[in-house]
Amino acid sequence: MIAVALIAAGASSGCTADPDPAAGVWKRRCAACHGSDGAGRTRFAEGRPYADLTDGKWKHGPEREALRRLVAEGDPTSTMPPFAGTLSPEEIDAVVEWALALPARTEGGSAR
Ligand code: HEC
Repeated sequence: MIAVALIAAGASSGCTADPDPAAGVWKRRCAACHGSDGAGRTRFAEGRPYADLTDGKWKHGPEREALRRLVAEGDPTSTMPPFAGTLSPEEIDAVVEWALALPARTEGGSAR
């Protein structure tokens, strides 16, 4: 809950000197497969419609708990890797909030 409040504060501060920590995690750990816009149009996510996180369709979500578990443990049936060893629980929380906000943020931008 504390992390959620911090993220909300970060998100509302926009592009100031204190960027959303999730943005850095996203760029370093997730964008290679999901794309910087989250639409999943990369060769690593080819043929995996659920790698598009902007379409509002979730295989594991939109329940936060399920998405946290997925990011921590990965999905053995796909290339979605487990991040429990790389990211702290706070970072996982933050990046899950980031993923959940993608459909609203990219509205209209993910049309193929
Ligand atoms: C090596 C490539 C790869 C990386 C890196 C990766 N993902 Fe994924 N991710 C995938 C693929 C492929 C899927 C689709 C799984 C499927 O089709 O079952 C997926 C699925 C997901 C989903 C579930 C979407 C749904 O519909 O339920 C979420 C959320 C997600 N990833 C978040 C992340 C986050 C956050 C990161 C960074 C911390 C990340 N991913 C890094 C490949 C990746």
